[in-house]
Amino acid sequence: MLLSPQAERNWESICLMLEDVLEEKSHKQLFALELGSGTGQHVARFAHRLPFVTWQPSDIKEECRESIKAYITATHAKTVLQPVHLDASEPWDKWAGLPCSSCDVIFAINLLQYSSFKTAQGVFMGAGEILKQNGFLITYGVYAVNGIITPSCNEHLDEEIRKINPEWGLPDVDVLRQLAYGNGMRMERMIEMEDFYKCLVFRKL
Ligand SMILES: C[S@@+](CC[C@H](N)C(=O)[O-])C[C@H]1O[C@@H](n2cnc3c(N)ncnc32)[C@H](O)[C@@H]1O
Repeated sequence: MLLSPQAERNWESICLMLEDVLEEKSHKQLFALELGSGTGQHVARFAHRLPFVTWQPSDIKEECRESIKAYITATHAKTVLQPVHLDASEPWDKWAGLPCSSCDVIFAINLLQYSSFKTAQGVFMGAGEILKQNGFLITYGVYAVNGIITPSCNEHLDEEIRKINPEWGLPDVDVLRQLAYGNGMRMERMIEMEDFYKCLVFRKL
């Protein structure tokens, strides 16, 4: 089991945000796809707090999928499916065989800032196809707003991320809003989270 200290710190506030955003849909059983699930800590925790959601975790990396499997077993999470390989930069018809209009929620935590623009495009194009009408694409992370990154700790984070890979870095909220619009979604909420992180909530029209 891989362990991310950041996931240990942020899972609860993310879970509270999810409870709030999904409240309008909590009277029915939902199907949620998580992109870039990483260790599996988040999905295992969410499963216990949001029993009306069936989770499909995914990741591009084999070691992450192995870790997710270990968390599912260790936490006896009954509403989490086995993880699938999914590269979010690929066209939606290569997204692990998920049918069109099959998901109520697509969630990505800390994926976009560690990705190239091609992956961001893939996330929005895929979500535009795979979400049901009124479904949500939710992204948690750090962002630029109108081309400006604040405060200085986020500027520093952007520099550090770009040192790892020059194609990565904090995406701009307005660019994501346009990507959403071009793929049949509308940005509905921008929720301030801890440590200058934000959640963006897009609704499929
Ligand atoms: C910074 S980690 C975040 C992991 C987890 N969501 C969290 O917050 O702890 C980014 C994750 O996205 C995965 N990833 C990177 N590029 C991806 C892609 N194109 N498609 C799907 N997953 C990807 C990585 O393997 C990694 O697990």
